[in-house]
Amino acid sequence: MMNASAVITFDSKYTSAGVSLAEYLAVPHIDASKQRLLRDNDIISYLHAEFPQDDFGLKIFLIYQKNGLSLAQISIDNSFLICANFHGDTIKYRRQKGGGKKEMIAKAVGLSGESSLNILDATCGLGGDAFIMASLGGNITMTERVAEVYALVNDALEQAKEWGRDTDPELIAIINRMNLINADAKEYMLTINPTCRPDVIYLDPMFPPRKKSAKVKKDMSVFHNLVGTDNDSHEILPIALSCALKRVVVKRPRIAPTLSSKKANYSIKGKSNRYDVYICS
Ligand SMILES: C[S@@+](CC[C@H](N)C(=O)[O-])C[C@H]1O[C@@H](n2cnc3c(N)ncnc32)[C@H](O)[C@@H]1O
Repeated sequence: MMNASAVITFDSKYTSAGVSLAEYLAVPHIDASKQRLLRDNDIISYLHAEFPQDDFGLKIFLIYQKNGLSLAQISIDNSFLICANFHGDTIKYRRQKGGGKKEMIAKAVGLSGESSLNILDATCGLGGDAFIMASLGGNITMTERVAEVYALVNDALEQAKEWGRDTDPELIAIINRMNLINADAKEYMLTINPTCRPDVIYLDPMFPPRKKSAKVKKDMSVFHNLVGTDNDSHEILPIALSCALKRVVVKRPRIAPTLSSKKANYSIKGKSNRYDVYICS
């Protein structure tokens, strides 16, 4: 596991956000707004030049540029930027043309049958699954314990609010159903007032990278460097089972063993993933 080395601001409109985030992460803030770098490739070249790597070196930076916050992974042979995004064309297309309540995730968490559920996405990552569940009507509380990942999602929520304010009320309604917390879900669940327990808890912890997979997707490659493999993931299921009112859903690779070796009530299987459903009595 590693941390961001610095927060770097390439657009002066984000200088104060950059300073605050650097303070939050307890890392240096670097103001690079005078560089006037607009393209991702130019930013990557700048980071290579300013922060030279040793042979196997890898560095991670949080950077503010014209579209808000991104994470830059800089290494000898694999440098790129990633961000969370809830308002771009891809996610808009998926929201409007996706499988809706017929999606596997909707069936797994129970959103295909109910109009509204309170769901805790305890391992929210970049928030892709949380956004789908919110767009299907769920009220989603999201916990993410890695501060850098939390910062990316927090910024994506702000950017989506800003972008949709005058143009996309449906998006604003979805974003308003997403509430993000920077916490370890295992600790957070123990603090939930018994009268406020979520209907459903959704778990998607990291899984060790498949040895034979040709090329791990970019965001997964960063996640493996930044987040690691969630070695404590077996501890979260028992806590979730005693916290959820209706069910716990665990997303797993299709052929992976169940989390904590606990047999599910049933599973919904797709081509590469599986949703194990645990009904709470
Ligand atoms: C595989 S990613 C989740 C991907 C997510 N479902 C999505 O759609 O983007 C797993 C994430 O869960 C987070 N995580 C794992 N265990 C956690 C815990 N106990 N509390 C909070 N976050 C946790 C990791 O830091 C990582 O960001």
